[in-house]
Amino acid sequence: MKVLVPTDGSEQSMKAVQRALELAEKQGAQITLMAVAYFTGDFDEMPLNIREKLEAEARDNLKKAKAVFDQKNVKVDTVLEAGLVPANNILRQAEEGKFDRVIMGSTGASGLAKVLMGSTAAKVVAHAPCEVTVVR
Ligand SMILES: Nc1ncnc2c1ncn2[C@@H]1O[C@H](COP(=O)(O)OP(=O)(O)O)[C@@H](O)[C@H]1O
Ligand SMILES: [Mg+2]
Repeated sequence: MKVLVPTDGSEQSMKAVQRALELAEKQGAQITLMAVAYFTGDFDEMPLNIREKLEAEARDNLKKAKAVFDQKNVKVDTVLEAGLVPANNILRQAEEGKFDRVIMGSTGASGLAKVLMGSTAAKVVAHAPCEVTVVR
């Protein structure tokens, strides 16, 4: 089973990472962690240093998630991308990588914890080509 785990460094996404680790350990699932550097506004007009900062943030989020697997000596793949709408990157990866399942947080780093589901989670649930587990 191939499992895609999008992570934005949030507490909820780290819960999803933990769930994925369990699946890898118990069922031998192949896990891929994915972070999307999230650009608002016009990508080409964004100052380079800001793009680099956002990319470094996404890379750090990925590292933090990978450390959970490294600690247990469980193999994991990582994907780092950049985009305007993280859900679109996640959906494309799920489709092109022929993933069987996506595991993600119900909310994320935006801090709008009062909403039932964040916009990234909602869009992935609505359009994913595979099953989606939303972790609370
Ligand atoms: N930029 C991103 N890169 C990878 N995964 C993301 C990104 N943003 C959100 N996610 C995933 O989607 C989940 C839900 O986040 P989201 O829908 O964006 O909620 P919020 O609106 O609270 O930020 C996160 O827990 C994480 O698993
Ligand atoms: Mg978000």
